[in-house]
Amino acid sequence: MIKQHTSTIDYNDKVIDIHDVYKSFGTLEVLKGVDLQLFKGENLVVLGRSGTGKSVLIKLISGLLMPDQGTINVLGEQVDELDVKELQKLRLRIGFSFQSSALYDSMTIRENLEFPLVRNKRHLKRAEIDESVENVLEAVGLSQTINQMPSELSGGQRKRIGIARTLILQPDIMLYDEPTAGLDPITCIDINNLINEVQQQYKTSSIIITHDLACAKTVGDRIVMLLDGRFERQGNFDEIFDTDDARVKPFHDYNFID
Ligand SMILES: Nc1ncnc2c1ncn2[C@@H]1O[C@H](COP(=O)(O)OP(=O)(O)OP(=O)(O)O)[C@@H](O)[C@H]1O
Ligand SMILES: [Mg+2]
Repeated sequence: MIKQHTSTIDYNDKVIDIHDVYKSFGTLEVLKGVDLQLFKGENLVVLGRSGTGKSVLIKLISGLLMPDQGTINVLGEQVDELDVKELQKLRLRIGFSFQSSALYDSMTIRENLEFPLVRNKRHLKRAEIDESVENVLEAVGLSQTINQMPSELSGGQRKRIGIARTLILQPDIMLYDEPTAGLDPITCIDINNLINEVQQQYKTSSIIITHDLACAKTVGDRIVMLLDGRFERQGNFDEIFDTDDARVKPFHDYNFID
């Protein structure tokens, strides 16, 4: 079933506004005039073949890479004009969920979750830290794991803890790079539901990069597809695939062949 309309999206407020962005590496032209907006409260899904530049896009948004041309505005800031300090401040408002959850193996779940707080919000008191840890663990449904080690958790649970660790800084924007990659179908459903719960509970605006069309369908308020360096198609799930374009059809047919 395609995602129902999310009433809390504010289409007058662009939290990300990318205009005519180009990015090459040597002779490899990856992005060729990208325009993209993310609206406040929206879950935006980005589809596209391997190597089309989806992860590059996330790095541009977070200022880890700079565009060759074009403008990238994030939360009202022009990313390419910020100095190192300003960029760091902006990045604290953006949560990343990478493919590998990258938890610290030698730390307990509690210590893993405290880490970003202790590092970035030094003024917090012990009781406030404890409360934040308990709240995010509850949000991802894993309160019982607080004293366990990452090695004792399943891949899906580690993914949830990775998302919790990001949420603990209460980001305005969440960037999910292939959140369901390598997970079994039931765990995928769990993660998709979590992405929607995060949208509702934490009022985040999110970009979700995925090859998983069930994920796209469940979490995406809007879907865009990167084709030949630009976002040529956008719409809801049915609109995106209502085409005979040979670059688009295989995505759908591979997943939902009759
Ligand atoms: N720092 C870099 N230096 C040189 N080339 C790079 C760099 N980062 C990315 N690329 C190249 O840019 C292209 C796009 O990479 P990107 O990681 O964005 O692909 P993707 O769309 O995320 O693919 P996938 O779906 O496989 O994750 C690739 O050809 C990659 O080799
Ligand atoms: Mg990628």
